[in-house]
Amino acid sequence: MQAVFFEGNRKLRVGESVPVEPGAGQVRIQVAYCGICGTDLHLFHGAMAHRLTLPHVMGHEMAGTIERVGSGVEGWRAGDRVTVRPLDPCGKCPACAAGHSHICHNLKFIGIDTPGALQGMWTVPAHTLHRLPDGLALREAAMVEPVAVACHDVRMSGLKEGEFAVVIGGGPIGTLVALVAGARGARVVMAEVNPFRVALARELGIEAVNPLDTDLPALVNERTGGAGADVVFEVSGSQAGAEMMTKLPRTRGRIVVVAIYGEAPKVDLFRFFWRELQLCGARVYEGQDFELAIELAATGRLPLARLITDVLPLGGLEEAMHRMEGGGACMKILVSCTD
Ligand SMILES: NC(=O)c1ccc[n+]([C@@H]2O[C@H](COP(=O)([O-])OP(=O)(O)OC[C@H]3O[C@@H](n4cnc5c(N)ncnc54)[C@H](O)[C@@H]3O)[C@@H](O)[C@H]2O)c1
Ligand SMILES: [Zn+2]
Ligand SMILES: [Zn+2]
Repeated sequence: MQAVFFEGNRKLRVGESVPVEPGAGQVRIQVAYCGICGTDLHLFHGAMAHRLTLPHVMGHEMAGTIERVGSGVEGWRAGDRVTVRPLDPCGKCPACAAGHSHICHNLKFIGIDTPGALQGMWTVPAHTLHRLPDGLALREAAMVEPVAVACHDVRMSGLKEGEFAVVIGGGPIGTLVALVAGARGARVVMAEVNPFRVALARELGIEAVNPLDTDLPALVNERTGGAGADVVFEVSGSQAGAEMMTKLPRTRGRIVVVAIYGEAPKVDLFRFFWRELQLCGARVYEGQDFELAIELAATGRLPLARLITDVLPLGGLEEAMHRMEGGGACMKILVSCTD
């Protein structure tokens, strides 16, 4: 089988790799598709280098079919179609003890701290598996992981039907947050600076604006009778987004920070006091978010196929990285991992 090896210094190499025999409690999956996410791009740029063992195989947004089952694995067999929730918590730390194992203090993220899915066969712990319904194509199913991020973000926000939400940043995650919020019956405006992404969001029925040419606070006030947004999601990871997020919520409105910032952003704390705002962080997902994501994907309530702008072979990973760097005409890029 083939794998894409990251060798550091922005170097990727496609090469032969030996499938790892599944040990006790593990399964081996034939990977059909693997999505490339911002985190993979960060790794490519040298971020989190201390966590990688080079050469490293990236990738954690995938769908495939179980090929072999290790000893002691119950409930799974070869041929089952699955996706993986790529979290391996320690089970012992205070966060795990409190029931928050998705943000375990010693969390291993599979695909960063251990090899990822950008290869023909991927061996993972069976506890990470989620079953895919027959009607859900493996291509769309490779989007379940980012959809689960969005489901978690929306759940953490407490967003209710009829409420008004603003999403700052319309990359794959922000767009999915807007779609999941919409599926929950909220009214949504999304702010995105990349014209391709604004146009794509509009095609998907999202009200998307470019904050560079739209007065976003004025628009939100107009839509809410001067009240402000019930919920603001910051999904841009930009200083401008972090500044904008406090300008938009209503009194006692909620801000959910989903983005990961390269540098600690400057935030206007005065607005928290002034409007009694609430700030909440949201990180990855829990099992129930994956289950909801699979259900939303399987029932066709999210236009996932249209978010997939490219499907490339394993050898196309480098091209994918450069296209994502350019911030150009792409949304979700998938890699086809099996010939
Ligand atoms: N909390 C989590 O567990 C989690 C999971 C996945 C991703 N993330 C983070 O969420 C963020 C979004 O992920 P993504 O994959 O969609 O990344 P992305 O970089 O593709 O999307 C960010 C978008 O924000 C836009 N943007 C930049 N400045 C803006 C501004 N001032 N106003 C409006 N839009 C602006 C960019 O054009 C881009 O489209 C990233 O920071 C990522 O690291 C967090
Ligand atoms: Zn990801
Ligand atoms: Zn733990």
